[in-house]
Amino acid sequence: MKNLEKKWALVTGSSRGIGQQIALGLARRNCNVIVHGRTLSNTEETIQLLKDLDVKVHSVSGDLATEAGITSVIEGVKSGPGYVDILYNNAAIMNTWKEVWQIPMDQWQKVFQVNLFTVVQLCNAFVPGMIERKFGRVINLTSGIQDTPHLAPYGVSKAAIDKYTKDLAAELKETNVLVNHVDPGWLKTDMGGENAENEVETVLPGALVPALLEDNGPSGRFFAAQDFKELD
Ligand SMILES: NC(=O)c1ccc[n+]([C@@H]2O[C@H](COP(=O)([O-])OP(=O)(O)OC[C@H]3O[C@@H](n4cnc5c(N)ncnc54)[C@H](OP(=O)(O)O)[C@@H]3O)[C@@H](O)[C@H]2O)c1
Repeated sequence: MKNLEKKWALVTGSSRGIGQQIALGLARRNCNVIVHGRTLSNTEETIQLLKDLDVKVHSVSGDLATEAGITSVIEGVKSGPGYVDILYNNAAIMNTWKEVWQIPMDQWQKVFQVNLFTVVQLCNAFVPGMIERKFGRVINLTSGIQDTPHLAPYGVSKAAIDKYTKDLAAELKETNVLVNHVDPGWLKTDMGGENAENEVETVLPGALVPALLEDNGPSGRFFAAQDFKELD
C-alpha cells in the first residue's frame, strides 16, 4: 500500500456524507486533506472531526454548479498547499424524481455541470501538475444505479463519468497518474436516504483502495467499496 504521508488530497463534497468519511479515512492514513463544501461554514464539522489527527488540513469552498464556484475551489487550493496529489471527485447532485419525459432541461444541465463538467474542469486544473510531479491519483465516484429513468440525468451523468475515467486513464498511461472509479454502494446519507442498505462508514476502507495503489498500479479500473467492508 502506498504511504500517503505528506500527500495532499482534495475531496470535493467532504462537508458531509461519503466525502466526509473519505476525508477521515485519508487523514487516518496520514494524508493531508483539503476539505470542500459549498460554503466554508459547511466544512466546519469535518474540520472538527479532523482536528485530533496528525495531518495538515485546508478548506476550500464553492458551488460546483457555477463557474465562480469552480474557480473559487481552484484558487483556494492554489492559495493553500498549491497543488493536489489525490483528487477525489466525490461531490454530486441528483435531479428531482420525475417521469423521464417531464424532467426539465435545466435539471439535466445542472446535474451534468456538477457531476461531469466540474470533474473535467478540476482534472484539467490539477492533473497536469500530477504528471509533472510523476505522482497522482484521481478517483471518480460513480454509482450502481440501474433502470431508474426518473433519475436519468443523475444515472446518465454517472455513465459519462465511467467513460471519462477510462479515457483519462488511456491518456495517462505510464505517467503514474492513476485514474479509477469507485461505487460506494447504497449508503445512508442525505443523498442515499434513510432506507439505504449500508451505514455511511462502510464506504471505508474500500473507497481508499484506489488512493493506496502502489506506483504504476491499475488505472481505468472499477472498484466497489462494499467489496472491502469486512477488511477494516
Ligand atoms: N449515498 C449513496 O447511496 C450513493 C450511491 C452511489 C453513489 N453515490 C455517490 O457518492 C458521492 C457522495 O454522495 P453522498 O451520498 O455523500 O451525497 P450527499 O450526502 O448529498 O453529500 C453531497 C456532498 O456534495 C456537496 N455538494 C452538493 N451539491 C454541491 C454543489 N452544487 N457544489 C459543491 N458541492 C456540492 C455537499 O456540500 P454541502 O454540504 O456544502 O452542501 C456535500 O458535501 C456522489 O458522487 C454520489 O453520486 C452515493
